[in-house]
Amino acid sequence: MNPTPDQPTVRFPRDFLWGAATAAYQIEGAVDADGRTPSIWDTFSRIPGAVLNGDTGDGACEHYLRMPEDVALIKELGLGSYRFSVAWPRVRPDGGAPNSAGLDFYSRLVDQLLENGITPWLTLYHWDLPQALEAAGGWLARDTAERFHDYAMTVYGALGDRVRHWTTLNEPWCSAFLGYTGGQHAPGRQEGVAGLVAAHHLMLGHGMVVESLRSADADLSLGITLNLTVAEPFDPAEPADVDAADRVELFWNKVFLDPLLTGAYDARLAARTAGMTWQGRPWEDCVRDGDLAVISVPLDVLGVNYYHGDGASGRIHPPEALLGSRVEHPSRPTASPFPGGEDICFPRRGLPVTGMDWEVQPEGLTRLLQRLRDDYDVPPIYVTENGAAYPDLVGPDGSVHDPERLAFYDQHLRAVHDAIEDGVDVRGYFAWSLLDNFEWAYGYDQRFGIVHVDYATQRRTPKSSGRWFAQVARTGSVPG
Ligand code: NOJ
Repeated sequence: MNPTPDQPTVRFPRDFLWGAATAAYQIEGAVDADGRTPSIWDTFSRIPGAVLNGDTGDGACEHYLRMPEDVALIKELGLGSYRFSVAWPRVRPDGGAPNSAGLDFYSRLVDQLLENGITPWLTLYHWDLPQALEAAGGWLARDTAERFHDYAMTVYGALGDRVRHWTTLNEPWCSAFLGYTGGQHAPGRQEGVAGLVAAHHLMLGHGMVVESLRSADADLSLGITLNLTVAEPFDPAEPADVDAADRVELFWNKVFLDPLLTGAYDARLAARTAGMTWQGRPWEDCVRDGDLAVISVPLDVLGVNYYHGDGASGRIHPPEALLGSRVEHPSRPTASPFPGGEDICFPRRGLPVTGMDWEVQPEGLTRLLQRLRDDYDVPPIYVTENGAAYPDLVGPDGSVHDPERLAFYDQHLRAVHDAIEDGVDVRGYFAWSLLDNFEWAYGYDQRFGIVHVDYATQRRTPKSSGRWFAQVARTGSVPG
């Protein structure tokens, strides 16, 4: 199938890595199995109004029970790599002592992948902080970075002989700013500049883990995954919109890229948060001598997750003109995830949107990748997530025909290819997601899978997009 008949076939480099991604809390279920204790998402999803329809990850895709079947699916799709995350509360329940039963699950998963010729791409933290550590301060406590380091080394001790590709954090922007500033994600706190404190401790934990893994084994491939955006002013002629886009760039991209890749925070962060305090102090008080050297430890890989463009505005618009206004958090008030950014909004620009109400802007991905190359001394890039939710319909024969998702992948893969042609060192691409799954605050309402999951029967059915993506992965080219 060719969703863009007027486009040529594009070929990716021979050794380009193709895969699909998932995350523990979104697919595993079995939240009480084998010694696992609650994470912040088990707690948060039980707050009335926090998750659409009151959904939780209790059952999810039952991947914990169905893991061999799911690995067989990855193999059937011919994907060379599988990006998954390890659940901290399985491996060190309550953030305490190691739990061999929890580790054993991941050991079996890794064996199963390797036996099937699939490269494991492991993420240590995809948002499931043990609730007991949140009770002790969560990511606002410096000690959580130490606990993260200890947990990571436990995972390394069990899997380091077989896993070569390690990602410390997935999208720390969400953990920090949706978790502690906006409150849209667990733990649901809305404490202004606290998000910057959380971001600092997350990056500190990242740096500590990279340092230790590097000295344990110099051959590992180590990285972090960031969700980056291309923020443009909604109206470039409006100073308030230019200012809003600048703040989005600062509080979304630069807050992570600068410390990680240059070893310093942009001074404008402090200027933009002047006068704002958390617990009576400016956020920068959490930064200690030597932290930035740890945070900026060299990386082998930068993981980039990209989903949508953003046209930012700093002016008032009617609610129905705003993106995300339809579905988000119907009964629980949240705050802006941008510290001091209550005026920042994202009006519709007339671009097509996905089921999430996210703007489809494929060329934004090309520009983002070029910008990373131009502005930073960036390591090789992997697109560790890209994909789209659409309301899928299951046909009478059980098949799922999803031309919109297929076209989304087609356009974004072409955008990645454009960046490669322009000389950006992009080495791989992971579809989000292998399976329909628990989409955080949206529960099971939004389906991102290239494989459909019938939650009543747990039956998995590759969608048309999944079959198409498998073909792309097998041939290394997007058909014209
Ligand atoms: C990024 C996150 O890493 C993933 O967990 C989430 O499901 C997707 N974006 C889609 O929102």
